Amino acid sequence: SSESKLRLIERHIRAFQNFPKEGILFRDICPILKNPACLTAVMDLLEEHVRNNHQQVDLIVGLDARGFLFGPLLAQRLGVGFVLVRKKGKLPGATVSVAYNLEYGKAEVEVQEDAVTAGQKVLIIDDLLATGGTMHAACELMKKQQAEVLGCMVIVELKDLKGTDRLKDQKVFSLIQY
Ligand code: PRP
Ligand code: ADE
Repeated sequence: SSESKLRLIERHIRAFQNFPKEGILFRDICPILKNPACLTAVMDLLEEHVRNNHQQVDLIVGLDARGFLFGPLLAQRLGVGFVLVRKKGKLPGATVSVAYNLEYGKAEVEVQEDAVTAGQKVLIIDDLLATGGTMHAACELMKKQQAEVLGCMVIVELKDLKGTDRLKDQKVFSLIQY
């Protein structure tokens, strides 16, 4: 059942105090990937959510770096392509970029100009939503490409940081909330 899958997933997320900086409680999803049944549970719930809530998805867009762990698996299940949104300076050829602030630092995300074309319907995926800065920047990138963001998906949502406020124009789906 969905409930037992969620309980399995919850048991495979660890917390580390003061990483990568003092005062940050870091939620580590690595144990999910180490356990094949748990990773299957994650992918089952994400796929089910997409099939029940979104029709005609053209692309899954994954965020650097841990969005790359789940995005291609979801894209393959849905039979659609996967596109990488990377930290600046990693992608060759013509790119578009957006700067943003994150819970512990500053960054800039980038996508290849030809990766997403006008009118395409995309779902954005990452492992975790904190302040929403990264996800918001990715949405802005998609807007620059005139793509339509159908929704944003994460495994973990940190409620206290109010990432969904930052993404108030978007449908946000998370499996586990803290
Ligand atoms: C983490 C996480 C999200 C982002 C969430 O990535 O994987 O991408 O932070 O934070 P936000 O909602 O406040 O923007 P991080 O920047 O640590 O990079 P990494 O995935 O390359 O480790
Ligand atoms: N990214 C931003 N904040 C985070 C946190 N608390 N745990 C894991 N990844 C994060």
